[in-house]
Amino acid sequence: MSLQTIFPGVYSIHGQPYTRSLTPGFKVHGEKTVKNGGHEYRNWAPQHSKLSAAIVQGLKDFPYQPGSKILYLGAAQGVTCSFLSDVIGPTGEIFGVEISKRALRDLIFVCEKRTNIYPILADASQPQEYAADVGQVDVVFEDVAAREQDAILARNAAACLKVGGFAMLAIKARSIDSAADPNKIYEKVITNIQADPDAHLELVQQVRLDPYETDHMFAVFVKKK
Ligand SMILES: C[S@@+](CC[C@H](N)C(=O)[O-])C[C@H]1O[C@@H](n2cnc3c(N)ncnc32)[C@H](O)[C@@H]1O
Repeated sequence: MSLQTIFPGVYSIHGQPYTRSLTPGFKVHGEKTVKNGGHEYRNWAPQHSKLSAAIVQGLKDFPYQPGSKILYLGAAQGVTCSFLSDVIGPTGEIFGVEISKRALRDLIFVCEKRTNIYPILADASQPQEYAADVGQVDVVFEDVAAREQDAILARNAAACLKVGGFAMLAIKARSIDSAADPNKIYEKVITNIQADPDAHLELVQQVRLDPYETDHMFAVFVKKK
């Protein structure tokens, strides 16, 4: 079986992204697994994760490596968190913020197996509730289907992102305005984020997630100061 490296810790097998499992034998959402060279690899399907869709669609910056510290907003049941957990390894840390108690129950089950994910029951629009526990992180990742996606990213970057760190946002146009042109919504969200006086975020790449996610744009920012 041929295995190519897409990014450190992310591999292409038969044209699909895979990660090397930290917890062989334990699946998070029934994902396909394959064995290679004594390791188990988990299929990171772009249909089930916006970060995987962004990779398949040409993401250039992948600021995750062994030991990375991540603040993940909208952790849900932990699907994407679990793949990042494979990439950052046992010395990394993911702080997974989730507002839904029901989703958090499933996330806790994943955290019991994966000791580098810490679940936080909180509203991501209120980072002051958890910023002191999280500290400064290398990446803020946001995937919440909320109207104020821009303000949530800016506030969390201002509170927790280190200078030079990356902020990544899956913009869901239909959660902001179900009638407006998605392109106008992406532009407004990105403008608002870059204009925030405390976040200091500069856009470095935009990746369309269609056809994996309709009316979604993935935006990548760097914190300048
Ligand atoms: C699209 S799902 C996230 C899927 C997840 N990122 C993945 O790929 O595995 C969006 C999640 O954001 C959560 N959410 C919505 N508003 C939130 C908020 N203000 N704070 C924290 N989580 C929120 C929802 O409960 C939901 O679980």
